[in-house]
Amino acid sequence: MECIRLIGGNQLNGDLPISGAKNAALPLMIASLLTEKELVLRNVPDLADVRQLQLILKNHGASINPVSTDANGEKVESPSLSFNTPVITDTCAPYDLVSAMRASFWVIGPLLAREHKARVSLPGGCAIGTRPVDFYLDGLKALGANIEIDEGYIVATAPKGGLVGSKLRFPKVSVGATHVVMMAATLANGITEIENAAQEPEIGNVARCLVAMGAKISGIDTSHLVIEGVEKLGGADFEVLPDRIETGTFAMAVAMTGGNLLLKNGRPENLQAALNVLELTGVNISTEKNGIRIIANGERVRPVSVETDPFPGFPTDLQAQYMALMARADGTTKIRETIFENRFMHVAELARFGADISIEGQVATIKGVKTLKGAQVMATDLRASVSLVIAGLAAKGETFVNQIHHLDRGFENLEEKLSNCGADISRVSL
Ligand code: UD1
Repeated sequence: MECIRLIGGNQLNGDLPISGAKNAALPLMIASLLTEKELVLRNVPDLADVRQLQLILKNHGASINPVSTDANGEKVESPSLSFNTPVITDTCAPYDLVSAMRASFWVIGPLLAREHKARVSLPGGCAIGTRPVDFYLDGLKALGANIEIDEGYIVATAPKGGLVGSKLRFPKVSVGATHVVMMAATLANGITEIENAAQEPEIGNVARCLVAMGAKISGIDTSHLVIEGVEKLGGADFEVLPDRIETGTFAMAVAMTGGNLLLKNGRPENLQAALNVLELTGVNISTEKNGIRIIANGERVRPVSVETDPFPGFPTDLQAQYMALMARADGTTKIRETIFENRFMHVAELARFGADISIEGQVATIKGVKTLKGAQVMATDLRASVSLVIAGLAAKGETFVNQIHHLDRGFENLEEKLSNCGADISRVSL
């Protein structure tokens, strides 16, 4: 079985390129089902989740091909894919394809909008809480869909003539439900207003792509989206934004190990809350023309308590990585997780490095220790797994991270990127 082997203690220096955002690439790929024309996506990260979603889209009739030139025929470096779905050949997303990744459930939006029907298996994905789909279904019902559950599948049907625009308010901010209802509303009859919409930058990225495809959306980047349905969407050539979670993860890695790293393509405005917290811990952060520079001395950082929140708050997807950093802080920190009810599975694994962490309900109390010691640990979910890598980079001695298929879902070329900057990290077969 493959695992990651690390020897801690090296500083991180140089330039580290940030890949396209997984959480934008997935919904952008799904948006390609809304049109019979070609959607070209630039800066698509090569990740297990992206490959899995390609299988799902192909099952619906998409043909997907690499693209090596830009719109002017010039050769491009950026990894690009074209998506063509002239005909939706199957409106069913089966269990064996959908169960591996929660976001694949989102195909329900475009299928219902374009074909007026969808049969989609209830989702799987990271085991970080119950993660129901009630907001999605209530949102689609507000657009007139009839929803039934049949043997583990959601069966959705639009009224005759298609979905109907409507006004709705999500009871709680949901990234996935916002993506799905926004996509579905682009082809509905009339105007849809979504209140309490998620404002994550990935939603804005998808909304802008939909507009490039001919959708009429206003209120982009706000919690109040207004979508005027159009009859058809066309093609587009669109770029996936850089991954803010990968950016924040590497920023925290430098905060732990020390060093001087330029996170190339990183966009500070997309992770300001996390950068502000890192600055308070004593890390030096500056914005440069082509990215974010992180400088740290590798000493124990100051403890700063945080609470996760929807964007623009501190992202839940950086909570585990930040906890690894706080495990070696010079004092005690509290981290409150407000988005998911079961997102502390990394705590038991961080304890193997010698971290002193206790949990009460949704709050983790982390008493910083002087030194973390390398250990055998097991990845439990995508973001948790990278927190173990970060801990290992700063720990004394050797670390093995097992179950790394979780990492491969969301971090492109992780070992290569880190070892290019000085880390002693490799993938080994045991
Ligand atoms: C997305 C991200 C994930 C991130 C999360 C929160 C992608 C591919 N995944 O996940 O990385 O951690 O946003 O920023 O973009 N909820 C309900 N009912 C619903 C939907 C959600 O109760 O119908 C709850 C969830 O259980 C959770 C909260 O709402 O407690 C937020 O979840 P949501 O924003 O929907 O997360 P995802 O879209 O699954």
